[in-house]
Amino acid sequence: MSGIEKSTKLDLERIVFIGRTYEEYIDMFSLSPDQLKNKKILDCPAGVCSFTAVGCKTGLDITACDIAYDHAGEDLYRKGLQDVEHAMKHMETAKGNYKWDYFSDIAELKEYRLSALQDCVADMQQSPERYIPVTLPVLPFQEKTFDLLLSAHFLFMYSDRLDYSFHIDSLNEMLRVTKEEIRIFPLVDLAGNRYERLDDVTAYLRAQGHLVEEVPVGYEFQENANSMLRIRKSI
Ligand SMILES: C[S@@+](CC[C@H](N)C(=O)[O-])C[C@H]1O[C@@H](n2cnc3c(N)ncnc32)[C@H](O)[C@@H]1O
Repeated sequence: MSGIEKSTKLDLERIVFIGRTYEEYIDMFSLSPDQLKNKKILDCPAGVCSFTAVGCKTGLDITACDIAYDHAGEDLYRKGLQDVEHAMKHMETAKGNYKWDYFSDIAELKEYRLSALQDCVADMQQSPERYIPVTLPVLPFQEKTFDLLLSAHFLFMYSDRLDYSFHIDSLNEMLRVTKEEIRIFPLVDLAGNRYERLDDVTAYLRAQGHLVEEVPVGYEFQENANSMLRIRKSI
């Protein structure tokens, strides 16, 4: 994982390429498929998440973007398989930091992670136009291109390596390309602690006139990762 990557092509070894499923996104962002109809949605960054692949199959209009997308699908698939294996081994010792009601055990978690990877890479190969390489804090889209932007397991989760100014620059860029609303999940870091500058981020966004709320959600796999930031844009 790298938020400060400057070269045009990221060294794949530097990122962890694991993705959640469409269903997990619906739950972690408290969405209903009906709410998403007729919206133009950006998943940013999407990694090997299946939100775009599965959502587009049901007729939704979703675009995925990620720093890793200028690599070939087969390389991403190979890296994704390695990372799932590695993460599942690590999970044996880290199991206590997670709640086991969404997934009953590590075997089931692995099935979900592999299905997200397979759905994502298959869709990427079939519909490459939906998968756009980007390097935050810059996004290559026109102003107000998307109605809704979803950002999962990136910004605040990696606050040990992405600093406050990276968060603010990325949020400003996300707001620029979005018309209505941004949702960010989770609000804790990898250790499960609330992002320590969340109140500063919230105050900064409110000062610009945006409506900002911390909203509890029904999805909690990592302990304490159970709320999202909902930012509704001022005009
Ligand atoms: C942990 S994954 C989250 C993927 C997905 N949102 C999910 O919840 O399953 C984080 C992703 O951030 C991407 N990434 C890291 N630095 C980035 C940057 N500066 N710009 C865009 N994407 C970046 C990585 O390639 C990786 O796929």
